[in-house]
Amino acid sequence: MSEKKPVYICRCQEITEDDIKKAIEDGARTVKGVKNRTGATMGLCQGRTCRKLIERMLARYVDMNEIKPGTRPPVRTVKIDDMVKGEEVENE
Ligand code: FES
Repeated sequence: MSEKKPVYICRCQEITEDDIKKAIEDGARTVKGVKNRTGATMGLCQGRTCRKLIERMLARYVDMNEIKPGTRPPVRTVKIDDMVKGEEVENE
């Protein structure tokens, strides 16, 4: 009788690899998403030990094509008036 031993990813919070996989299956796509679902990275070391492991699991199990880009700030300053007009502004 060999019972499968849990693999702890976040030792501080006792979050296992299976817990992280379940969080990813439930829709977590970032470390913050995993944190919100499991409490990982919220222990004494504040994720110093487990963050990299969670990032690796996300890279392994998440299809990057399903992640939609988020809202980003403009790469250069744009006047609100120009944004309202919707006109292209050449670099000055
Ligand atoms: S190992 Fe996860 S918070 Fe410390």
